[in-house]
Amino acid sequence: MSIEKPAITSFQPPVRTLMGPGPSDVPPRVLSALARPTVGHLDPAFVGMMDEVKTLLRYAFQTRNELTFPVSGPGSLGMETCFVNLVTPGDKVIVCVNGVFGQRMAENVRRIGGVPVIVEDAWGEPVDPAKVEAAFAANPDAQLFAFVHAETSTGALSDAATLAAIARRHGALTIMDCVTSLGGVPVLLDEWGIDAAYSGSQKCLSCTPGLSPVSFSEAAVARIKARKTPCPSWFQDLGLVLGYWSGAKRTYHHTAPVNPLYGLHEALVILAEEGLEASWQRHRDNHLRLRAGLEAMGMSFVVREDARLPQLNTVWVPEGVDEAAARVRLLNEFDLEIGAGLGVLAGKVWRIGLMGHSSRPANIALCLAALEAVIRR
Ligand SMILES: Cc1ncc(COP(=O)(O)O)c(C=O)c1O
Repeated sequence: MSIEKPAITSFQPPVRTLMGPGPSDVPPRVLSALARPTVGHLDPAFVGMMDEVKTLLRYAFQTRNELTFPVSGPGSLGMETCFVNLVTPGDKVIVCVNGVFGQRMAENVRRIGGVPVIVEDAWGEPVDPAKVEAAFAANPDAQLFAFVHAETSTGALSDAATLAAIARRHGALTIMDCVTSLGGVPVLLDEWGIDAAYSGSQKCLSCTPGLSPVSFSEAAVARIKARKTPCPSWFQDLGLVLGYWSGAKRTYHHTAPVNPLYGLHEALVILAEEGLEASWQRHRDNHLRLRAGLEAMGMSFVVREDARLPQLNTVWVPEGVDEAAARVRLLNEFDLEIGAGLGVLAGKVWRIGLMGHSSRPANIALCLAALEAVIRR
């Protein structure tokens, strides 16, 4: 053997408080669910649990959509699953871009051979419905519309009900990114008429990263069934995946991440026990607590008040403070993670997450005290 045995021992991660843009703190109940015995991914006990996960996700998404399940992969794979199944080469898609994740949606459309029509808003602004209306008027042949509900790169929340209603009036199906919104603010797929939605396990659901809940309306399923060309991704082809996630007899498609799905199940049970309305209210209350403390320290928010995400607080870094050095100190001295700015906001802002289990008064007290200490120095 030419490669020496490495002298590496078990990995022991530090215990951090996660107040960045995700992942959020994972509660002990979810961590212990992950450690339960692994069973076969076609074991009847596991299949029963998969059905419960779908039921719990329908509650979280507020939908009766049959096609609701977690994709085995991070939010980015949920995003791709929506686009790769719904968009065929040459399709025009109206895509709203007001931050990093809208840009990624447009890139998905391009790579599939679709034609993105970009509706642009400034970073930190919500999507402007008037611009969307104008884009449909100029592109009556657009059959798909995509936007990010909660833009994690800026902390802006867009008006999903109004945007989806515009798309419906123009005969288009709506794809919504709710990676950061699900569980933290209202996400009402059926009421708003959203046709395809994807989320992530690691934000307000407070599960470990790596799973992406998705949901598709009947109209979206009909569009997928009417495709003339096969979905270009074998792994994400919903027609194939469904043999595994639904029906009386489950067939092998891929080996599901068994233990991570135990974790998601537990996280969704915790959400159902708390209740969606109570969870939304807790996120709102804790945002107001954090906001009072940050403003008392002289910090101001990037996003205007009526479009602010309670679970992601983006503030301008105070003048004279080295933003990257401050984050390093928070991590080293307080075991506290907050997020940096992305793209045009890089170096200028902090993104402070209050997502899921991280949205607690104790975390807020730690964050404010630690920031105060670091800024004063
Ligand atoms: C709004 C939004 N969309 C998509 C993603 C991608 O999710 P993931 O990092 O799990 O692939 C993220 C991740 O932060 C996000 O915030």
